[in-house]
Amino acid sequence: MGGFSQEAQLMSNNEMVVTPWEVSGVIDYNKLIEKFGTSPLSDELLERFRGYTGEIHFHLRRKIFFSHRDLDWIFDLYDRGEKFCLYTGRGPSGDIHIGHVVPWIFTKYLQGKFRAKLYFQLTDDEKFLINSNLSKKKVLKLMYDNALDIVATGFDKKNTFLISDMKHAGVMYNIGLWVAKHVTGSTAKAVFGFTDSSNIGIQFFPAIQAAPAFLDSLIEGRNVPCLIPAAIDQDPYWRIARDVAPKLGFYKPAQIHSRFLPGLGVGGKMSSSLPETCIFLNDSVKTARKKVMNAFTGGRATVEEQKRLGGDPSICSVFHYESHLFEPDDQKLARIEADCKAGELMCGEHKRMLAEKVEKFLVEHKLRREKAKDTLQEYFLNSDKAMEEILQ
Ligand code: TYM
Repeated sequence: MGGFSQEAQLMSNNEMVVTPWEVSGVIDYNKLIEKFGTSPLSDELLERFRGYTGEIHFHLRRKIFFSHRDLDWIFDLYDRGEKFCLYTGRGPSGDIHIGHVVPWIFTKYLQGKFRAKLYFQLTDDEKFLINSNLSKKKVLKLMYDNALDIVATGFDKKNTFLISDMKHAGVMYNIGLWVAKHVTGSTAKAVFGFTDSSNIGIQFFPAIQAAPAFLDSLIEGRNVPCLIPAAIDQDPYWRIARDVAPKLGFYKPAQIHSRFLPGLGVGGKMSSSLPETCIFLNDSVKTARKKVMNAFTGGRATVEEQKRLGGDPSICSVFHYESHLFEPDDQKLARIEADCKAGELMCGEHKRMLAEKVEKFLVEHKLRREKAKDTLQEYFLNSDKAMEEILQ
């Protein structure tokens, strides 16, 4: 059963906290929809997806992406011939773990199906500002390291534009200025919980995270709808961006929100701050296997009990990994679930099955990452060209 049961009890008493900088406690996604004022992803919207893509991606079927803002509007415009761009991002504060990859895999899928441009922001500035032990040099190194993982995810080179806030400061700052002019200190405080001791850089930063949502409109010289796929922790940023957009004459950016891939311990999202419960893309195969074999599961105290009573996949991190990433086939997933509940699939065996899938994923990713080194520079936004458009 892994060594996390005490932790389980602690977590279950924890209050839910979901902000861009902290996700903890037991997460109630229905409550988040209510609290953030977003909309659940309805079956009708899933059917609209099927209309465009001929299928419903497993992240949608399983409601891993579960909530949205204005996705119906994005589709209405699309039906009238207005293509949307995509925008997502990463704050390079450390190594990439497989939780980060959940929204990226779905974004790549959307890019392929809708032939959409993708702006991918690397918020090296944000991480420099909030992390007292990150120097500019270190954060830029992490930015390039993370960018390799992003490229290795397989985005379309012709249609993908990486933005480093520090390297592309001219473009980001100039758009950010427009945004910042319309955001009062009290709004920023209310949305992000800034206090008088928050540095003024981080209080300005939400304007920079809003900027890429408007970049394609500026580059194209007309309003381009923008869809942002990300886990729901990023939502506060979009409240600011959506509030300001009409004041600047832009469309409000739309969002599609994912759940969090949990850690291999109990509850909470996969988080770099608990590295033993977190699989990093640069973990060796051996380390990743060890982490999977130590994972918390929904198993019983003894094999005999488990055979008699069955396991509980709903609380099992190994099962969550299958459903979020490693078993896209619904029939196979249903089989795993049924065998677990019937006491026919033991946790040790299931962990070994998952470890093999994780190992394959890591080995393939590492190969693509090596190749990405040759082409990385070609993925970055050409800022001179973008500046010409923006400063016109
Ligand atoms: P960051 O680096 O914290 O996270 C990068 C992306 O991964 C998502 N995420 C997860 N998704 C599933 N399971 C998890 N356990 C998990 N942990 C993190 C995040 O929601 C995010 O989509 N400020 C941002 C960078 C950013 C950005 C954006 C993100 C700039 N522009 C636009 C999304 C969209 C950040 O620090 O992300």
